[in-house]
Formats: sequence, structure tokens, C-alpha cells
Amino acid sequence: MKKLTLEELKKIKEKAQSDLQARSPEGKDKIVVHMGTCGIAAGARETLLAILDEIEKRNLQNVVVTQAGCIGLCEYEPLISVQKVGGPKVLYKHVTPEKARKIIAQHVINGQIVTEDVLSTE
Ligand code: FES
Repeated sequence: MKKLTLEELKKIKEKAQSDLQARSPEGKDKIVVHMGTCGIAAGARETLLAILDEIEKRNLQNVVVTQAGCIGLCEYEPLISVQKVGGPKVLYKHVTPEKARKIIAQHVINGQIVTEDVLSTE
């Protein structure tokens, strides 16, 4: 059996790390849609559908979308949070499907926070 050189071992390690990166949400931009009862009543489902549609249309490979429950802020629903790799976590309020599409174009793609719809940043 042929022995591996240090260079070959390094390449295997790098490939394993990049495969892992591709599979895990780390290293990807994250969008969380809050789907508590009040969120759904306020239209969170339509917001989620618009987000998924926009991501598919624009073929955004580096974005992970997940759902979460209520965070006790009924009056601001639908709520979504957006966190770009290395950026702050931005919580957006009253996110209609139209606003969701704007947030994707402006924040997720161009890195500019849509300030008028921000509830908080961490
Ligand atoms: S259901 Fe509205 S804040 Fe939880």
C-alpha cells in the first residue's frame, strides 16, 4: 500500500473541511422566520413562501432558511431575522412578502440593512 505524503494528507483534510462547511449552516447566511400562532395569523406563512421563492428564483446557494417559534412580540409579526456571515443578527418587523423580497435583494444580496423595517440588531 502506497504511503500518503504530507501534501496528500493536507489535501484530504482541506476537502473534508470544505465538505463539512457546505453541509453545515455555518458559513452560510441565515434567515429565520418566526412561525408562532400570531406570526402565522399575521401572514408569516406567505412571508416564508416569498422568501423561499425569491431564494429559488435568484438561485442563492449560500442562504439557509429555518423556522422558529414565537418570541413574544405579537404586535410586530410577521418577524424574521437575517444574519449574514460575519454580520449582526437583524430582526425585521411586519415583514410582508413584498418586504421579504426587498430584504433579500438589499440585505442578503447587497449587505445593506433595510433600516426602516428593523426592530433590533444583536
Ligand atoms: S403567540 Fe403572539 S407573542 Fe406568542
